[in-house]
Amino acid sequence: MAMRVILDTDPGIDDALAILLLGASHEISLEAITVTHGNTTVDKCLANALRLVDLAGLTGVPVARGASSPLVKSLTVAEETHGDGGLGYALLPDARGTVSDKSAVDTIIELVHQYPHEITILAIGPCTNIALAIHKDPTIIALIDRVVVMGGVVHAPGNMTPDAEFNIFCDPEAFDIVLRAGFDLTIVPLDVTYQCLFTKAHVARLSSAKPEIAQFIEDSTRFYMEFHDEYQDIDGCAINDPLAAAILIRPDLVTLRDYYMTVELKGEFTKAKTSVDHYKILKKKANTKVAMEVDVDAFMDFFIERMARL
Ligand code: RIB
Ligand code: CA
Repeated sequence: MAMRVILDTDPGIDDALAILLLGASHEISLEAITVTHGNTTVDKCLANALRLVDLAGLTGVPVARGASSPLVKSLTVAEETHGDGGLGYALLPDARGTVSDKSAVDTIIELVHQYPHEITILAIGPCTNIALAIHKDPTIIALIDRVVVMGGVVHAPGNMTPDAEFNIFCDPEAFDIVLRAGFDLTIVPLDVTYQCLFTKAHVARLSSAKPEIAQFIEDSTRFYMEFHDEYQDIDGCAINDPLAAAILIRPDLVTLRDYYMTVELKGEFTKAKTSVDHYKILKKKANTKVAMEVDVDAFMDFFIERMARL
């Protein structure tokens, strides 16, 4: 039976690639897309998500509007990274569908009660919607099968501050709630996603994909590559979110390690820093499984092969 997934997302260029990957994967039953603030405003992310479901062959999947701002801190967006519209240079036709009449929070709550112990939440943006959902209905915590979060950093450099990763930086209080909830929680940090650098050579390998798919990937990632080059002196672009999606289907792509993870909520210089207790000094039970190694070539081959299925 296909894995029932709720995708919580802030599309966003790499979010868009994750949506394409989910659409290309028969192993996944995408029950809903819930949209959050993050790479751009929630309304721009929502407009992008509504268009992307058509491109991914997911027309009809409910798309619900979520939080427009974090729980505590002020809104952060990353339009220098993803462009003013959120999808770089890519343009998409108008969406066929419309936004759900249910909120993101109610969509999560209702689906979890409809499918107890079957739902995986794949969170590839700030965790605001998830935190709000478990605050509104704490009973869903025990009914959610698994939560996978693209976010955080263990030993690698931060991409938002020297220590903090963007999704966590956008709403550290929300991530702290997720960390403390007691989920079967997998974290996909920058330590592995920044090894997955999608380059022009990978774009050239998309020849088996439909022209509209290849064109979207080329136009969106060209903007993303320009950002990585200018701001981080990186050749290519880190496709963070598709890796988090891929491990639902191909857990063999990464090595997971059990860690007790915390997130800094107060530090003047280290706010939103995620830390793991490597030597178990705190003697606390591990609250996360963290992806610490990745088979980059196998992941890139998998992603490119799946794009040809759309
Ligand atoms: O730090 C990378 C993460 O932040 C990705 O999910 C990207 O889309 C942005 O949301
Ligand atoms: Ca994202």
